[in-house]
Amino acid sequence: MTATGRQGETVHVTRKSRAFARRWLPLCSLVFLVALLTGCQLDTAQSTTVIAGTHNAEVWNSYRVIFWLAGLVFVVVMLLTLWISIRFRERPGVSAQQIHGNTKLEVLWTLIPVAIVVVMAVPTITSIQREAQGPPADAIKVIAIGHQWWFEFQYPDLKINTANELHIPVNKPIAFEIRSNDVIHSFWVPQLAGKIDMMPGHVNSIWFAGTVARPEPYLGQCAELCGLSHANMRFRVFVDTPEDFNSWAQKVKSATPAPSDSLARQGQEVFQRSACIGCHTIQGTTAAGIVGPNLTLLGQRTTIASGTIPNTADNLFRWINNSAAIKPGSLMPPMGQSAGGALSDDEIRAVSAYLLSLK
Ligand code: CUA
Repeated sequence: MTATGRQGETVHVTRKSRAFARRWLPLCSLVFLVALLTGCQLDTAQSTTVIAGTHNAEVWNSYRVIFWLAGLVFVVVMLLTLWISIRFRERPGVSAQQIHGNTKLEVLWTLIPVAIVVVMAVPTITSIQREAQGPPADAIKVIAIGHQWWFEFQYPDLKINTANELHIPVNKPIAFEIRSNDVIHSFWVPQLAGKIDMMPGHVNSIWFAGTVARPEPYLGQCAELCGLSHANMRFRVFVDTPEDFNSWAQKVKSATPAPSDSLARQGQEVFQRSACIGCHTIQGTTAAGIVGPNLTLLGQRTTIASGTIPNTADNLFRWINNSAAIKPGSLMPPMGQSAGGALSDDEIRAVSAYLLSLK
């Protein structure tokens, strides 16, 4: 092949690919934009279409019927609109047609929507009735309390108090008492249950069973704008096998923190003499504050800062040093000297080691 030939070929290929791009780029961009604007995502962690709880399944049953009926109405109405616009349009020599007062048509387009609403009402009303019956008698009671900006979970019968990471046994109904400590929050685990408002001065309730046990947690999120760190108010739900749940519950109940290494021991000493104990509880110690999250067995949790960052020594250091740098508006005062607090970097490192040792 000659140099000219190759050059000619290159020009031809470039022209072809330009034509291809001109043709498909606008369409692809449009599809991408529509997907983006409708909130489509490949990650299903917060999708209500993944069914892993009885409450979500109940909602999905009604939603599915309504979705397909609404989809059918959309397609039929759009096609009719298009057909009518073309068929009865004004053309040279033909004036646009308009029809008034067709009784048959009017009765028809009143009756069809009525029939659709009746069909949608059947699964909706039966779901509402089933939900309104309340939880089965053997349900585990959990009190979920919204705080700015974290979640407290109390198991009154099991005498457990924990924060931001909820454990429940698979296929066991959980009866939630939903409360708030300050403003209106909303309890929502898209794949399991919700949303239900957490209201100050009012107790709401919801119940469900997690139906799919797995090691990875289900993501929960506050779903009501509640202030500066609303978006950072998350939690995790672990649907455990019955054995895993029992061993977790036993561990939390009988937690007796005894730090094994010297750094953790030093951290415990700093924790006990600092402002920490005014706000946090660590079971089996003199720390008994109830303003902030209960830190018993914190070392077992996968995340800190209300489910926003992984539970590592570095992140604990950053959090204790100046929590507002991670979670704007955080009500925990900065503890590090560099941020105006009382603790040196070494002391914070020791406290982080202590907290991580609680497992
Ligand atoms: Cu709590 Cu938004």
